[in-house]
Amino acid sequence: MERLVIEGGHRLEGTVQICGAKNAALPLIAASLLSDRPVTLTNVPELADIRSMLTLMEHYGVAVKGPSHAVMTLDAGAAVNKEAPYDMVRRMRASVLVLGPLLARFGHARVSQPGGCAIGARPVDLHLKALAALGATVSLDGGTIDARAPDGGLTGGRIVFGSPSVGATETALVAAVFARGETEILNAARDPEVCDLAACLVAMGAAIEGAGTHRILVRGVTGLKPARHEIIPDRIEAGTYAMAAAITGGHLELTGARLEHLGAVGAVLEAADVQLWPTDRGLMVSGTGRPRGTDITTEPYPGFPTDLQAQFMALMAIADGASMIRETVFENRFMHVPELSRLGANVTLQGTSALVRGVPRLKGAQVMATDLRASVSLVLAGLVAEGETIVNRVYHLDRGYEALDRKLVRCGARIRREAAP
Ligand code: UD1
Repeated sequence: MERLVIEGGHRLEGTVQICGAKNAALPLIAASLLSDRPVTLTNVPELADIRSMLTLMEHYGVAVKGPSHAVMTLDAGAAVNKEAPYDMVRRMRASVLVLGPLLARFGHARVSQPGGCAIGARPVDLHLKALAALGATVSLDGGTIDARAPDGGLTGGRIVFGSPSVGATETALVAAVFARGETEILNAARDPEVCDLAACLVAMGAAIEGAGTHRILVRGVTGLKPARHEIIPDRIEAGTYAMAAAITGGHLELTGARLEHLGAVGAVLEAADVQLWPTDRGLMVSGTGRPRGTDITTEPYPGFPTDLQAQFMALMAIADGASMIRETVFENRFMHVPELSRLGANVTLQGTSALVRGVPRLKGAQVMATDLRASVSLVLAGLVAEGETIVNRVYHLDRGYEALDRKLVRCGARIRREAAP
């Protein structure tokens, strides 16, 4: 197992290239199963989660061809319908995204039910509800989700989500591509990743309108065509580096990042005295001394994303003043709190809220990464903590951040990766 050893106190200065979005790439790769024609994706990030999804695609007989990892063609022409095994689904919850395309194309899908997860219960009921609204018979059979379309295939219907779910909206979108007639998805998630999936499906020949709004309409089509699609930049990676710049009082240009995808994050950072402005190449971020204590509540897009909550807490740990951080998307997403406290952060947890009283400085210590975003918040805190911070179990980071340590080192951070003793 590897760990990162960070020597804190070095200001970040330079340029960071933002990769393609992990959360856009995963559903896009899964959606390749829908079509018997090849789909070429560009700007694919090099991440452990992407490799897991590609392994799952190989399980179904999808041919994955280079020229490189960043540009890959997925050809599901000879795909076979099988069960998604528990071992794969357990490792990556996003595997459940094969349910929609398998059901739509083959009329039947079996996927092992995803287990509990470190950041809460994360049920899949909304995914199943969406499939049922299109006429599928959905049952749970010994820990396996079994979804079957009626003879003649799925039919268009009205899907109303009680609360917006990114994954369930994606399942609904993909499942509706071949459904006869029109499907209306109400209270849909509006995230840029949902729009990206819709854009790729449209390039493949699907008829979709309204992605990015609460109401998406899908008109069923009978066949698809080859397509090429460029994945949008990762707004969570961009937001993470923006906070890395801010926490060190540094200055970074995030090439490829798009301010318009950041939703509430831009305004929150400005309120915290972090400067942010668009450039020809992306986004410039400048930290000016200690940030100002600023409250946030995580919400569905375009609200402040839960995937940046832990990083923002690291920033607020050294703020001038206090901040209230409320998590409304996932229960149990405060595992970074005890670890940040080991570095000297002053955080009081009360249910779904954390009161962070900013301190002038943090102090290096050994900490343990628990999930992807929690781990990166510890790295950010380590960048500014006095002395040495050791972040153990960095495999969590590699699931979602391409070359995090190398990118930071290039901008002046002192980080070394080593095998844990
Ligand atoms: C996606 C992102 C994840 C991000 C999350 C919220 C991917 C691969 N992952 O996850 O990084 O943190 O959006 O922005 O894109 N829910 C249900 N029933 C369901 C599905 C969801 O109750 O069937 C609940 C969840 O428990 C959660 C909320 O809905 O409280 C939002 O979850 P959702 O948007 O579905 O998250 P994911 O798609 O799993």
